[in-house]
Amino acid sequence: MSLVNHLKELERAIYNCYFAGEDSPPEPIFNVLANGVRNGMDFLVPIDASDELLKMLNGEGDKGKGEKAGTDENIQIKFRHLVVNDDGEYFIPLFTGKEEIDKGQPTVSISQPVKTLFEAIDNWPKCIGYMINPWDKKIVINKDMIHMLLEYDRSAFITIVRGGVLDVHVGAIVNAANNTLLGGGGVDGAIHKAAGPDLLKECKTLGGCDTGEAKVTKAYDISFADAIIHTVGPVYSGSEEDAKLLASCYTSSLEKALEGGFNSVAFPCISTGVYGYPLDEAADVALTAITEWLVAHEGILMNVYICCYRDEELDSYTNILLS
Ligand code: AR6
Repeated sequence: MSLVNHLKELERAIYNCYFAGEDSPPEPIFNVLANGVRNGMDFLVPIDASDELLKMLNGEGDKGKGEKAGTDENIQIKFRHLVVNDDGEYFIPLFTGKEEIDKGQPTVSISQPVKTLFEAIDNWPKCIGYMINPWDKKIVINKDMIHMLLEYDRSAFITIVRGGVLDVHVGAIVNAANNTLLGGGGVDGAIHKAAGPDLLKECKTLGGCDTGEAKVTKAYDISFADAIIHTVGPVYSGSEEDAKLLASCYTSSLEKALEGGFNSVAFPCISTGVYGYPLDEAADVALTAITEWLVAHEGILMNVYICCYRDEELDSYTNILLS
């Protein structure tokens, strides 16, 4: 059984996809789903239940038509349908949690493995796919995508986001801190402000941090992350050492994420603000370091977001990716 909290990671990937807008790549979502197929991720599926089943589940539900779920029990379970046209084609709604279900009509639901759900899709000719969290930030997974996801083996991806590290939902936010770890301006100041005074209390116990290294704290009042990884970038000097230290910030942070069991990370453009690192050079170092690390850690689920707080940062990344 995997220790990954797939449902949480999926919610994060969906949130970030909506945050980043129409052109956002779907890979972070695919990574979680495909990893979930391999490692036992379950969805909540609303059902139309018989009276007998309702009694057993001690819940309430409406009658209606539905798909039979694979079950050895005598009691029949039927998935609910979201019919989309006059031909009776439909999606089956899936939910990442009770909170998501409760945004709609009250309904009984059961937990089903995503693998079973995906593998069953071809048995139902009129089912055109699944709709994840249909009441709010919905994601449609159609039949072609399902076939693709059953074979999909990528589990890491770098997404360039126009926004700050506090705008996305991730396992760990990376802070561009200084050697004292006692706060400062820029993203450091913003993170301390958002996390609240307990962050500084914990930072005081850490004994600072060397340039190029990283230390982990809790995220405190930042509810959309589990942790903060504090790393210290080099003050730009123009020497060869700068690039080594900057690359080390990215790889040390990813190591900490791996050790801490975090499956998604948001990086700011470390050293490119107060510490004066030229943006194009820094973007090149960051992309190379992260890519090499991900290649060396093939198979792990790790959605990496590089957050460009300023337009110029996004321009640097876009130029590199287009060249
Ligand atoms: N929210 C999100 N991202 C921000 C914010 C913000 N409010 N402000 C800046 N960034 P910087 P550094 C982005 O200057 O160059 C601090 O005082 C910015 O656009 O925060 O590594 C520390 O305590 C860029 O992408 O960090 C250190 O003393 C990224 O954050 C020193 O600054 C890094 O810019 C570290 O300097």
